[in-house]
Amino acid sequence: MLAIYPGSFDPVTLGHLDIIERGCKLFDQVIVAVLRNPNKTPLFTVPDRIEQIRRSTQHLSNLEVDSFDGLTIDYARMRRASALLRGLRVLSDFEMELQMAHTNKTLSAQIETVFLATSNEYSFLSSSLVKEIARFGGAIDHLVPNHVAVDIYQCFAKTHPASAQTTALAPTPLPLTTEPPREKPLGRE
Ligand code: PNS
Repeated sequence: MLAIYPGSFDPVTLGHLDIIERGCKLFDQVIVAVLRNPNKTPLFTVPDRIEQIRRSTQHLSNLEVDSFDGLTIDYARMRRASALLRGLRVLSDFEMELQMAHTNKTLSAQIETVFLATSNEYSFLSSSLVKEIARFGGAIDHLVPNHVAVDIYQCFAKTHPASAQTTALAPTPLPLTTEPPREKPLGRE
């Protein structure tokens, strides 16, 4: 049985990876499908996001990472998938996810949506939250894979050099800005 796990993944978080790993145990094959969405301005390009996911999932032999545009259900049909996989974190996800599942069911009765409850430790986590924390110099290395944290810090070091300087727990040193270093860096304490 083949399942598609569609999403924006801008960027992939440990919460997404939790769903991916557990999905790979449930299904014969899983395709993580990154939406190419012209209406959004993402932090990372689609090829960057695909690479980030591939790097984080090298240990999963029944996983493929791809991108798509248009309707998820059309992509799922084209790939001959039987299921769409989505994670449910909190009650507030439910309304939107249920609406998507019902709508997709009206478009293809053959393709089921399967929800996995996100593991407790990631139930608060979203890509937007990670980006907001990084933008204001907080630590994110416990929320995303290390290489993704490096990518995010580097992005914000270009656009917000002063705030990136406070990311003392960044896995790689950041270029120094003109500001003097803080005595007590912000971050996870
Ligand atoms: O990671 P996200 O942003 O929560 O993922 C949302 C996604 C990509 C699954 C959803 O927006 C989607 O399926 N978009 C493709 C367009 C589509 O099929 N729309 C109808 C869904 S009911």
